[in-house]
Amino acid sequence: MRIGKVTKIILGILLLVFVLIQLVPSEIPEVSFENEGDLFAMPGMDEEVAGILRNSCYDCHSNETSFPWYSFVAPMKWLVVKDINDGRKELNFSDWNNLGKREQIKILEEMMEEIEEGNMPLPVYTIIHRDARLNEDQRNKLSEWTASVTEKIFGE
Ligand code: HEC
Repeated sequence: MRIGKVTKIILGILLLVFVLIQLVPSEIPEVSFENEGDLFAMPGMDEEVAGILRNSCYDCHSNETSFPWYSFVAPMKWLVVKDINDGRKELNFSDWNNLGKREQIKILEEMMEEIEEGNMPLPVYTIIHRDARLNEDQRNKLSEWTASVTEKIFGE
């Protein structure tokens, strides 16, 4: 099949646009694995819950984000950067122990809501990260955990 002239011009323009959008400034958020205030440093942290949160939430809600190759390529990069910045702003598990009790209780409640409604992890994320989807056991486990931690904080 011969590629027509018009097709060539269109492909050329698309390639040029793709190259040019790579130049749009968009800063990859900083990553840190040394976080003293991390949720996992909380005394008596449940190991299983830690595993679930690390696998399903930590890419967007901690300083320990891992970036796959496509997160460096626009336009994917813009989406990834925005989700991580917005996600960390709402909830950063790396700062958990620096939060006040009231803030922690509010977040635990929001976590439960988001999980029950199926809003988190973000569906756009689980299209690619299929193993981050929460099954019923995991949702129940998180639900019990948020309830018990809330109770513990109230009792302190
Ligand atoms: C792909 C990134 C991503 C992942 C993964 C993710 N979140 Fe989020 N999360 C966001 C973004 C972005 C927001 C802020 C905008 C919004 O609420 O949609 C947010 C908001 C939240 C909020 C605050 C909602 C509110 O009421 O203000 C909670 C709580 C939350 N996420 C919990 C979780 C939990 C728990 C997980 C894991 C089971 C998770 N998220 C996984 C991106 C993510």
